[in-house]
Amino acid sequence: MANINPFWMTNRLALFPEATRARDDSLFIAGHSLASLADGRLTPLYVYDRATLDLTIAEYQSALRAYYPGESRITYAGKAFLCKSIAAWTQQHNLMVDCTGEGEIGIAIAGGVPREKILVHGVNKSSADLKSAFQHAGTIVVDNLTELERICTHVDRYTGTQVSLWLRLVPGLAVSTHHAHTQTGQHDSKFGMTREEILQAVQISKKANLQINGIHFHQGSNFRDPEPLIPAIDLALDIAKEIGFNGEWHFCPGGGWGVAYHEDELPSPSIENYARGIAEAVVEGCKTRGLELPVLHLEPGRSLVARAGVAIYRVGAIKQRGDKTWILTDGGMADNPRFALYGARYSCLPVEGLDREIDTKVSIAGPYCESGDVVIEDLPMPNLKEGELIAIPVAGAYHLSMSSNYNGARRPEALLLEEGRVEVMLRRETVDDLLRRDP
Ligand SMILES: Cc1ncc(COP(=O)(O)O)c(C=O)c1O
Repeated sequence: MANINPFWMTNRLALFPEATRARDDSLFIAGHSLASLADGRLTPLYVYDRATLDLTIAEYQSALRAYYPGESRITYAGKAFLCKSIAAWTQQHNLMVDCTGEGEIGIAIAGGVPREKILVHGVNKSSADLKSAFQHAGTIVVDNLTELERICTHVDRYTGTQVSLWLRLVPGLAVSTHHAHTQTGQHDSKFGMTREEILQAVQISKKANLQINGIHFHQGSNFRDPEPLIPAIDLALDIAKEIGFNGEWHFCPGGGWGVAYHEDELPSPSIENYARGIAEAVVEGCKTRGLELPVLHLEPGRSLVARAGVAIYRVGAIKQRGDKTWILTDGGMADNPRFALYGARYSCLPVEGLDREIDTKVSIAGPYCESGDVVIEDLPMPNLKEGELIAIPVAGAYHLSMSSNYNGARRPEALLLEEGRVEVMLRRETVDDLLRRDP
């Protein structure tokens, strides 16, 4: 029998992946009961909905086709979440993959990403990162002059293969993100090069017979208004004009488009508006400067994978402390450090018993020995019971990729869900895994 769900629950359900359904007062994704998935496994457990991944990338691709008349590409920011299955998924959609250094390059290769689709970032790439980039990548985005000098000195040792070199600009302009730690394009940022350094980099590369054929910037993460990108795009196009690229050139205004993490933030910002805002600014900016249209790259991470993922935790103990009700779960800062890093907000639903009305406000915290090990603060919820499961939506980005073994935490299992199919993308770590690095 169909349930008539309370309003609060229906609202929160919109944060969950596309294939989520509330059936018999319980959560299902792609036809799989979350309670059954969790009962046969250890929690915390992460599940990803393949339909959400496919639909989101289709939105990006159709927006670029609609609004950008030149060639365009999408580069998945691997830092959001990368494993072999996700790397393989990127190739089903013809994506490039942004890898930060040797480690992510290794995962991308193992997932079948070919050289021409690997793009390497990094604010202070080590020699090993650069060596791996020259061996396996198609594009390297140079962050600073020291890195460029290192490339010029050692390029002959790096196998002599053809790698496309882009320069990362720090535009000196901020976008509106919810925390200073998610800004990257402001004038005092540690990332990228100033206009003057970029022009110097072009001279250095010319002397070393290296060709620069792209400009990149990334202003910040989880912003919802594309407007502040426009002056940064203009600045980058001014610099492109000064450089005077010969032939095909590449331009990437990074990623960072936001998603709704909490029902207060719904609806999620439109991918179409974002891509359209960028495409129109690039077309107009090139026209006024007499520039050839670049190959336009977008570099999304969070907006591609965050909503596809759900974290399932089990409630252990419940404590009343003054006005605060602490729900203590088995997940927390070791699998999701985002609250501890920058006060990220979340919402959640119980996995079962969705017909309950809200009757309390709770704060949800993990089992780790840090007071900052909090997942959610002051969220209206129904009366939860010890032993029950909760599901935290929008958990697909920057959770598992930032996870740790703090307090001996074993990093969680991650499943990819489709109708009639469950794929283990990452198995849960064991104590043996914790000991593997001990000599
Ligand atoms: C260079 C670069 N590109 C893309 C991204 C992806 O950002 P987001 O996941 O917010 O889209 C990041 C994130 O930090 C980044 O540093």
